[in-house]
Amino acid sequence: MTDTLTIRRPDDWHLHLRDGDMLRAVLPFTADVFGRAIIMPNLTPPVACAADAAAYRNRIMAALPPRAAFEPLMTAYLTDGTDPDDLAQGHADGIFTAAKLYPAGATTNSDNGVTDLANIHAVLATMERIGMPLLVHGEVTDPAVDIFDREKVFIDRVLKPALEEFSALKVVFEHITTAEGVDFVRSAGANVAATITPHHLVINRNALFAGGMRPHMFCLPVAKRERHRLALRDAATSGEAAFFLGTDSAPHPVSAKETDCGCAGIFNAPSALEVYAQVFDDEGALDKLEAFASLNGPAFYGLTVNEGTVTLKRGERAADTLLTVGDEEVLAFDTGSAVGWRISA
Ligand code: NCD
Ligand code: ZN
Repeated sequence: MTDTLTIRRPDDWHLHLRDGDMLRAVLPFTADVFGRAIIMPNLTPPVACAADAAAYRNRIMAALPPRAAFEPLMTAYLTDGTDPDDLAQGHADGIFTAAKLYPAGATTNSDNGVTDLANIHAVLATMERIGMPLLVHGEVTDPAVDIFDREKVFIDRVLKPALEEFSALKVVFEHITTAEGVDFVRSAGANVAATITPHHLVINRNALFAGGMRPHMFCLPVAKRERHRLALRDAATSGEAAFFLGTDSAPHPVSAKETDCGCAGIFNAPSALEVYAQVFDDEGALDKLEAFASLNGPAFYGLTVNEGTVTLKRGERAADTLLTVGDEEVLAFDTGSAVGWRISA
């Protein structure tokens, strides 16, 4: 039995860092472990143009702990009015790594998102031409569609038609939660990949109602049935190039979670790599963790792998984190007692 595992320093290909006090409080958890992260642009107001992204990147760099070697990879928040030239220039200048598609109303701070893909036709054509990845929140917002079916319906109504039209567009189907998502990515070309969160590998939809309402288990896309969780575990631990690590760590104050109409989002940064390690261990696939966490993402994005390594050791994790941010508290994902890996200093 392996008790120590050393892998190339991993990256987080989907992360919410927020801004201000929250940014300063949550950033160290990621910067201590990961070499780079794709930074989600759903601030209020959103990070929509290259100037906004450059300014946000500066605020992230200023919030880094001393000596941290961490690189934020910035994304553009696509709106109906996104200027393809600003996007392409931002990409050429190294400010934008990718652009994020939020269907308007799909999730936290997505009200300025895209109302109809037809409105960003020129943007998608430009992105396809310059090889800039499109990161999609893959859920339809049609209120007539059951919330547990929104990802599956998105594939048929939006993603398949878009990829028929823009067949060379690089697409990352973010935080997939369904067997249909896994199947779609496997059947698509090498220009399509997906990220998988730690929590969707661990919980199914029962976790939302275990003994009562559990707002800290609520995120979007919402966790699905057990068969979907098992399909995600199979995909993540397969080593296949199309699947890589994206935590979707999404902190909210406890007061915004434990309330009527509470926010979607799970803050998992303090335990993310350990939880993934436990999943790979449970699946007898520890030898595939490095591909998922450290190799497949850079290969898809056309980046080199990180220098340096991270070592995990079998052993109890410290208790889960309750952060104080200003006069608010932020509760980290409850990993239960099942995580038997910790990061070695
Ligand atoms: C994210 C957030 O809080 O910004 N919430 C979530 O449930 N994942 C937004 C998102 O990625 O959907
Ligand atoms: Zn997210």
